[in-house]
Amino acid sequence: TDPQTSNIWTEERVRSTLPARAQDSHKGTFGTALLVAGGPDMPGAALISGLGALRSGVGKLEIGTYRETIRAIAHAAAEATYVPDALIHIANGSHPLTSYKAIACGPGTVPDALTEAAVGNLVKSSAPLILDAGALSERSYAQRSAPLILTPHAGEFSRISGYAKERIAHSPELCASEFAETHGLTVVLKGPQTTIAFPDGELYRNPTGNAALAKGGTGDMLAGIMLGMLCCHENWRHAVLNAVYLHGACADEFIKTRSPHTMLARDIAGWLPEVWKQFE
Ligand code: APR
Ligand code: MG
Repeated sequence: TDPQTSNIWTEERVRSTLPARAQDSHKGTFGTALLVAGGPDMPGAALISGLGALRSGVGKLEIGTYRETIRAIAHAAAEATYVPDALIHIANGSHPLTSYKAIACGPGTVPDALTEAAVGNLVKSSAPLILDAGALSERSYAQRSAPLILTPHAGEFSRISGYAKERIAHSPELCASEFAETHGLTVVLKGPQTTIAFPDGELYRNPTGNAALAKGGTGDMLAGIMLGMLCCHENWRHAVLNAVYLHGACADEFIKTRSPHTMLARDIAGWLPEVWKQFE
């Protein structure tokens, strides 16, 4: 295929695609999101991505994580409900997946056989699915009707695609769109310049974000925001693009008045209400 030329997902496009929250809506209107995140060594990833989802339009959020992690984070993500030992139950098929509006898996999870087995079942579900971090592996993707969205940074993208790191660094857009088209999925290739490649070859560049985001946890936050946005947008592509845009725009807002050295991933969720409002 020819190298695709990317479009910029502009402020105007964000303004025209952010959804309204209908006055007569209820939590069921937006649906329940499932977030499978956080491992024994990375409980914070479940909290950070959970806060991102809770701030981004979900009706209800279920966080699937380990029992110890639930105890550690429940006070800070009090609006969520919890699925104890979700990876185990999803892997063995005992946790039903039919009722979810959208699902995300991976922030803070370990890329082991258990995660792999759980992802195998998540892919069979009929909900839009985000795979991040520990849920990203080199695998084949069964054709599914709902969107599959991978959110790797360059290192993870090299691991799952087999493309050399140098090739990805040299032509990230070509690599992302080639992989997206070949496997029939969406690639959000993260970095100082994030590229979003859809399975039909449509390609976008995100104009927001800065080096304040170069810190552990900001990718987890993006996965959570994207999950929430999938619940409140009618068009899933707009949800993906607006999540990347607003995540970066929060960091841009932060550094107007604060040092980029000092931002916490969870600050993004703190700024999101104000920043989102600027585009409504
Ligand atoms: N400018 C703009 N945006 C940036 C910059 C930069 N200089 N650096 C990073 N970002 C953005 C990326 O575009 C992305 O949205 O910050 C986010 C970083 O995401 P990740 O690389 O996934 O980082 P992190 O949150 O630490 O991931 C946590 O996932 O990658 C695994 O092993 C990692 O388990 C860890 C978890
Ligand atoms: Mg990450």
